[in-house]
Amino acid sequence: MPKYKRFADASVSEKILDSMFLITIGVAYMFALLNLYYTHQGRDGKPGLSVRDVQLAYYGSHNQTRLGAAINGPMEPNLPNEAAKQTILDWINNGAKEAEFHEKVEPIMQKNCIMCHSAESGLPIPHFTSYANVVQLTETDTGATIPALVRVSHIHLFGIAFILFFVGRIFILCEMPVLIKRIAVAIPFMFLLMDISSWYITKIMPGFAYVVIANGALMGISFGGQLLTSLYQMWLYKPKSIPVDM
Ligand code: HEC
Repeated sequence: MPKYKRFADASVSEKILDSMFLITIGVAYMFALLNLYYTHQGRDGKPGLSVRDVQLAYYGSHNQTRLGAAINGPMEPNLPNEAAKQTILDWINNGAKEAEFHEKVEPIMQKNCIMCHSAESGLPIPHFTSYANVVQLTETDTGATIPALVRVSHIHLFGIAFILFFVGRIFILCEMPVLIKRIAVAIPFMFLLMDISSWYITKIMPGFAYVVIANGALMGISFGGQLLTSLYQMWLYKPKSIPVDM
């Protein structure tokens, strides 16, 4: 069994294997960032990724329902007057009850909306021909559900822990003051754990979206730093002394 503690002691095939692994992980990380961009960008209606997009993903828009957003926005011109709009908004705010729907909201929709929002129109849009259909559009958007977050959390924690472990394992062969190394191997894991915890906190406190972004970025930077330092030391760095400590 060859025993070594630094890149200087590693065989060339070992270094090639390590390098190919690190490069592939680096490329995979770029794709992960692109995936993040495509998943969340534009949630706020504006192109590009913003803090607001992250808030909408985890916290949701809360005060906006699909119906409320539509009659305050693109569907507003279809309403005859401000009073009709207010009637619908009040109905949503009062809990979107069925009796009140038939009494107040349905007549407005029959007159102003049904010609498009029904099966007859053939348009691929929600039909306003029953209470059940309309009420679906009055649910408040509270962002990602807990089961959805739990699913993504367990995949992230299992998957990323493995990646960080192997990258850290290679990084340990670098030469540097031992204290820096001991801290550096722990840091990406800490940011990963903090990032995932902050998803849940953002669900309750939208301001935490900044912490999600900061932790995600710091995890990327610390892990990228390990990766680049390892590649550099493997091929370009000339060791000065024979190190003893891990
Ligand atoms: C002239 C046809 C037309 C009329 C009349 C009309 N709509 Fe629409 N509505 C559309 C189309 C087309 C869409 C889908 C395109 C879009 O989202 O902009 C839509 C989308 C919507 C949505 C978004 C549904 C979603 O998936 O989130 C809501 C809510 C809505 N309309 C409500 C209304 C209300 C309320 C009225 C009556 C005051 C109304 N619309 C009248 C054509 C119409």
